Amino acid sequence: MPPDHPTPHLLLDLAVVARRYAELSALFGEVRYAVKACPEPAVLRMLVESGCGFDVASSAEVELCLAVGADPATISHGNPVRGPGEAVWAAERGVRRFVTDSAEDRALLALLPMDVEVLVRVLVADAGSATPFLGKFGAAPAEAARLARGAAGIALHVGSQQVRPEAFAAGVRVALEVAERAGIADPIIDVGGGLPVAYRSPVPSLSEFAEAVHEAAGGARIVVEPGRALVAEAGTLRTRVLRVSRRPGIDHRRWVYLDCGRYQGLAETEGEAIAYPVRVPGRSGPCGPVVLAGPTCDGDDVLYRRTPVVLPLDLVAGDVVDLLHAGAYTASYSSVGFNGFGPLVVHVVE
Ligand SMILES: Cc1ncc(COP(=O)(O)O)c(C=O)c1O
Repeated sequence: MPPDHPTPHLLLDLAVVARRYAELSALFGEVRYAVKACPEPAVLRMLVESGCGFDVASSAEVELCLAVGADPATISHGNPVRGPGEAVWAAERGVRRFVTDSAEDRALLALLPMDVEVLVRVLVADAGSATPFLGKFGAAPAEAARLARGAAGIALHVGSQQVRPEAFAAGVRVALEVAERAGIADPIIDVGGGLPVAYRSPVPSLSEFAEAVHEAAGGARIVVEPGRALVAEAGTLRTRVLRVSRRPGIDHRRWVYLDCGRYQGLAETEGEAIAYPVRVPGRSGPCGPVVLAGPTCDGDDVLYRRTPVVLPLDLVAGDVVDLLHAGAYTASYSSVGFNGFGPLVVHVVE
């Protein structure tokens, strides 16, 4: 890790992304990277060279992929909430797969060229996910089957950081039933993202998830759209301690305020949903419990109150603190300058 970049920053190791892509494509087959997890051009470029496709959420993400040389035919427009004209715009640029979940959008997609593939997103159970969609996307199975007449397949998402292989298997079974009811002979089943990362606790292996998916799919054509599982482990978010406060009468723990918080990329600490492993590279003495907080004046900008964090007793302002497995959903979530703290800077190690 280069010591001289100002903090905070995210250091991304491309070799880790390449290794994860190789594992995922060997296990699942067709992989389309969910660009939102980390839209860093160097990551996208390396994935294009490796033969990976892309799942995008907006026209801007289509442009990012095309700018690094992606074949538009490998791009899925996976966000069922598209602005007026966005599907036409993307189709004109060669995007050939769109996911939908409403009659309104399905009617617009029907106007696109004949070779455009439509996948209908079905709502599936997401218990076991650390960051579930809570019903925001997906049609109920009966409605999905109506929308899917003449479609190429069914899409689903079991919620991000989903730790239950059975959730994927159950989702695939629902998708196959919907495809059958819609009369799709050889459906594409897009199982979305959701594959988990072992942040602080072990999770089932990628092979266990792949086995669950393939067993449920019974030979149907599978596509997977990992975001987190492809890039999280490639990222280390390096921060620095701004203040260590003892707070007699308020908390028996020290409060450690970092120069990076909820608004500089650590958005997934909301509700303490994602618990990054925390390391202090420069100190090795005895540790004690702390509350970890960000630098802004916002009361929500506290990373971990309930999640146990223990840091060295001799920690002082200026010490470096690393958050590990932070490559996904960090830089892309960073605010433009809340309280004057700029967006999270990304450095790439080739
Ligand atoms: C349509 C779609 N596909 C894939 C993903 C990636 O999910 P994950 O990062 O959990 O793999 C998302 C995440 O929100 C998504 O909305």
